[in-house]
Amino acid sequence: MNETIDRLLFEDRIFPPDPAFTAQAHIKDDSIYQEASLDRLGFWAKWAGQLEWMEPWTEVLEWKAPFAKWFVDGKLNACVNCVDRHVRNGLHNKAAIIWEGEPGDRRTLTYWDMQREVCKFANVLKDLGVQKGDRVVFYMPMIPELAIGVLACARIGAPHSVVFGGFSATSLKDRINDQQAKVVVTADGGWRRGGIVPLKQTTDEALKDCPSITACVVFQRIGGSHSITMKEGRDLWWHDLMAKADAWCEPEKMDSEDLLFILYTSGTTGKPKGIMHTTGGYLLGAYMTSLLVFDLKPEDVFWCTADIGWVTGHSYFVYGPMSNGATQVMYEGAPDTPSRDRFWKLCEDHGVTVFYTAPTAIRAFMKWGPQHPESRNLSRLRLLGSVGEPINPEAWMWYHTHIGNGRCPIVDTWWQTETGSIMITPLPGVTTLKPGSATVPFPGIEAEILTEKGKVVTSGGGYLCIKSPWPFMLRGIYGDPERYEQTYWSKWKGMYFPGDGATRDDDGYFWILGRVDDVINVAGHRIGTMEVESALVDHPLVAEAAVVGIPHEIKGTAIAAFVIIKEAGAPGPDLEKTLKQHVVDQIGAIARPEKIIFSSDLPKTRSGKIMRRLLRDIAEGKTLGDTTSLADPAVVESLKVKYEGEEG
Ligand code: PRX
Repeated sequence: MNETIDRLLFEDRIFPPDPAFTAQAHIKDDSIYQEASLDRLGFWAKWAGQLEWMEPWTEVLEWKAPFAKWFVDGKLNACVNCVDRHVRNGLHNKAAIIWEGEPGDRRTLTYWDMQREVCKFANVLKDLGVQKGDRVVFYMPMIPELAIGVLACARIGAPHSVVFGGFSATSLKDRINDQQAKVVVTADGGWRRGGIVPLKQTTDEALKDCPSITACVVFQRIGGSHSITMKEGRDLWWHDLMAKADAWCEPEKMDSEDLLFILYTSGTTGKPKGIMHTTGGYLLGAYMTSLLVFDLKPEDVFWCTADIGWVTGHSYFVYGPMSNGATQVMYEGAPDTPSRDRFWKLCEDHGVTVFYTAPTAIRAFMKWGPQHPESRNLSRLRLLGSVGEPINPEAWMWYHTHIGNGRCPIVDTWWQTETGSIMITPLPGVTTLKPGSATVPFPGIEAEILTEKGKVVTSGGGYLCIKSPWPFMLRGIYGDPERYEQTYWSKWKGMYFPGDGATRDDDGYFWILGRVDDVINVAGHRIGTMEVESALVDHPLVAEAAVVGIPHEIKGTAIAAFVIIKEAGAPGPDLEKTLKQHVVDQIGAIARPEKIIFSSDLPKTRSGKIMRRLLRDIAEGKTLGDTTSLADPAVVESLKVKYEGEEG
């Protein structure tokens, strides 16, 4: 980590805002920061007033650490805010979603279309017996029906829980069972790199062991000769149900603190956590950060490349841009299908003005070369964003030069599933940018860097901390209030610990260094080391496993697994392949280990804890630090020799 700090502190390029950008921006000077810090609650309340409420709140915040209620007693409906009010306000025929499937099929849905489709699906869910409070799981490709389904849930007050389509049947099953979901919505498949992702087949596998599910709705995305089985009495076609559904559904009056959605994310234990977000505070965050960080204007075409299966797709596809009445691009497939200019062709064809993606994608674009964006007209782009992992200054510069043509500001946005919306970020008309720094906290957010004991760090690295509650914070972990308190609020009293390390420079800018817990950020996706270890030891030939993150050129971090196999097993390329596939089957392709290192023992402390730092050093081929606390220092040497041998 020290090396990273040194490298980042050496970064001294600065990019002040272009006066022409500032002149047209929503936020033109830094007075918003002072306003927010002088009266934080008043600031949030002022912005919350821009949402449409059915009943006003009586108190802005009720804080019984670590449990918060925002906009107490206020009533609103998130779907009304994202759809109905635009239909009422003259935007009815404005494009809400400009969608492209991977094979090249296109659809555009206006806000009016969205209202009709959402109402119909809301009625479908009601007819299936879904009531306010019942959970509905989505396991879908990136098609408009996913947004329609999610908003239909918000309309009737049924919390949605989207499971990324790349997760395995086991992961889907665990998420359905943890929240005892009533209905699951899927598709016969989705397109990815020219192939079909067999979503329905995976759902069938999961549903073998999901007693709470009473119905499975299936959207026909692929059709043709792609056949799936429909189980009598459980499986229903989306189009059959929609054909009979009424095009108006009265929106439910939701309390500000009613659950809007549950989204699972990896933590330090073997089991992902169901992060809960509620209606009022979450919607405020998504609305306000979309407006101010992306400087959204009525004429913008916004494209966030994230899948709705991740929080970025929740906040910056569904709730943020739509509560602003924005026009958005949605794309189903891979960035290199049919060719490596696909994203730039999409930007050209649909006139994208604001583009938001992850560093891992930018590094892949860098590797593919600038000829791809250069072959397309990207002149309408005016603002770029980055999210999900630290962006290395080289990738930042490439993005700025080759995608932004040296003129688009880049907003590097730090936040998490738990924080709901962007927390540390530039405001593009105001903030001087530094490549690799997420810059400063969003107005109203109080961030600090602390030592383990809670002392403020003024120079060098420490733990990132959020000192006070904010409206779009998570409200808990589904079914586990203790874990909520223990994971996020116990390191320092009454303060939030996100699990990231960071440093701050003389200008007060934050430089996020990455996770300091047992979570690995692989290509911008969170994976728990324990999760992968559990998947490995689930294989009959594995006795013990230890997983660490190692640097990777494109993914940022990749997974390396040290594995001790049982006597019956034969270490070698075949078993390596089998074990990698086993992890994919258990969790999903995002968790596939890059390297499996067979080992006869694992370095442990005297108290029996696996020394991951040491394994990381071995996997990275670094010189070993102090190993005197090891139970058997000889193990390390043998591991190191073995690993170097494999590197060959
Ligand atoms: O380590 C941080 C990293 O991603 C983690 C959150 O992951 P997730 O909940 O999946 O949400 C990702 C999308 C918001 C954080 O704890 N992270 C996210 N954004 C950045 C980042 N690290 C550095 N810079 C960022 N801009």
